[in-house]
Amino acid sequence: MSFNMYMPTPILFGLDKLDELADTPRLPAGDRAMIVTTNGGSMMRCGYYQRVQSLLGSRQVASILCDQISPNPESDEVEAAAAVARAKGVQFVVGLGGGSALDAAKAIALLAANEGAAMWDYMSAGSGKGLTPEHPALPMVAIPTTAGTGSEADPWFVVTKSGSREKIGWGCDATFPALSIVDPKLMLSVPPGITAITGMDAFFHAAESYLTINRQPASDLLALETVSLIAGQLPILVDEPENLELRTVLAWASTSAGICEALAGCTGLHSLAHAVGALHPEAPHGAALIALSRAWFLIMAEAEPERMGDLAMAMDQAAEDPAGCCDPADFHPLFTSMLEDCGLGALGLADLGVQEDEIEELAENALWTMPALLDATPVELDKEDLMAILAASMHPDEMERL
Ligand SMILES: [Fe+2]
Repeated sequence: MSFNMYMPTPILFGLDKLDELADTPRLPAGDRAMIVTTNGGSMMRCGYYQRVQSLLGSRQVASILCDQISPNPESDEVEAAAAVARAKGVQFVVGLGGGSALDAAKAIALLAANEGAAMWDYMSAGSGKGLTPEHPALPMVAIPTTAGTGSEADPWFVVTKSGSREKIGWGCDATFPALSIVDPKLMLSVPPGITAITGMDAFFHAAESYLTINRQPASDLLALETVSLIAGQLPILVDEPENLELRTVLAWASTSAGICEALAGCTGLHSLAHAVGALHPEAPHGAALIALSRAWFLIMAEAEPERMGDLAMAMDQAAEDPAGCCDPADFHPLFTSMLEDCGLGALGLADLGVQEDEIEELAENALWTMPALLDATPVELDKEDLMAILAASMHPDEMERL
């Protein structure tokens, strides 16, 4: 057994924890902050932005707002925001919202501390230059309002290069949040459909961390717990979106899966999903994962039968009346029925706008932009293998065994 473990982020977790922004000693030093949200205006409409601004103000921290971030953050956007942060003397960055806002805040915090740098100077795949940042990122505070991304507990952020089809993840020790506040009450405003899709993103983070060659004992423990929690509770939460207890369970599942991402990371399923997002920025990340997942897990059942049996057992144990499943072949029916119970059963790549004639480009894109996660996958997959997974995922309901 051999592994490295590093998870430095303090996490304040629970109902009304946002209020602790007023007095937590963990808040980064400084009196000037930038609050980063996406451009849809929901943080303003829900009053979350005003609350965060006011809580910071109570500590004599003046804040400026960056609300120009797309649902799939682009390099131009984070570079422009970083320039503003530098010009205004911002000392820390607060990401408020879903994964896009948190990821963008990390990227802005990194670029703001490195004058003259472009986002793609640092990306280590695609057309990135793979440079090492000269200075550590500014401290970043993560306040998630969806349960799925796990960005509050890991160093990763995903950005698309403006004007291109490169969507790449990056992170280093300095891009772990300096503080995360996970308050499930902030997630009550998420509609059922998005709750289901983002919750499944967390499921994949956990399941993939259990399958990656970079797994380790702590991520294994959290991954099985997370898979069990999501399998048992997400379908009920989709039906009862006001249920605060279930919101709390899913918030923890997301954070727990984020720790799995920090400790072990994902697999090539995320490489393929990012390729789909690069060609179709309007496709939600979680939806791309869902569309690809059935074909992906069939391959994993052959590559890692014992571990897929463990995942089946974790899902089965969440059932009211467990059937004693522990065989890799049990995973597929349990997983498919969970998707159906969440209202996601029929989702395929074709539903996300993917065309058959894009399959080769998507496979090439995944290999070019996110090779590290493919390398961490427990079976070697070449371009033809990826094309087969993509083709089977166009209409997964009609999928035969690959
Ligand atoms: Fe993800």
